[in-house]
Amino acid sequence: MPEHTFRLNGERITVDAADDERLLCVLRDLLGVTGPKDGCGINVCEACASHLDGKAVHPCAIPVGRLKATDEVTTIEGLPATAGADLHPMQQDWLGQDVAQCGYCQPGQIMTAAAVVRRAAAKGREITDADLDGIRTICRCGTYFRIREAIKAGAAMM
Ligand code: FES
Ligand code: FES
Repeated sequence: MPEHTFRLNGERITVDAADDERLLCVLRDLLGVTGPKDGCGINVCEACASHLDGKAVHPCAIPVGRLKATDEVTTIEGLPATAGADLHPMQQDWLGQDVAQCGYCQPGQIMTAAAVVRRAAAKGREITDADLDGIRTICRCGTYFRIREAIKAGAAMM
C-alpha cells in the first residue's frame, strides 16, 4: 500500500492507503478525524467540506494520491487553531445564533462559510448576499436563515 504524506490540522502525517482512496475515507476511517461528514459521497452535499491550503474543498472528491507533502488540510477540528483561539469566530457566532438542529451538516457549513468570508476578505471586501446565495451546502433540517445570520456575525469578527 502506498504511503501518503501531507499536513493535517497543523501536523505532518503519513498514512498508508491506495492512491485512489478518497481523502474523506482516509480522514474518517484511517485517521479517526470524523468532523467532515460523509453525506452524499459524490461531491454534492458539502457535508464533508474542509480546507485545502485555506480554500474550501470536498474530501469525498479528492483521491489521497493527489495530495503533496506540503498540502495543508484543515478540518473542523483544526479550524480554531487557525484563529489562535479555542473556537473560531464563525463557531462562536454559530453558537450565538443557535444554528444547529441535528448538527450533521454543521461542520461543513462552518468550513464553507469560513472559506467564503476569507475569499471575500482577500479581495478586500465584505461578504455580500450574492456570496451567501452562492453557498450550496445542504441542510436537511432547513437552518438556512440562521446560517446566514451566523455567517454575517462571524464575518464581522474575522
Ligand atoms: S459527502 Fe462530500 S460533498 Fe457530500
Ligand atoms: S442541522 Fe440537521 S442537516 Fe443541518
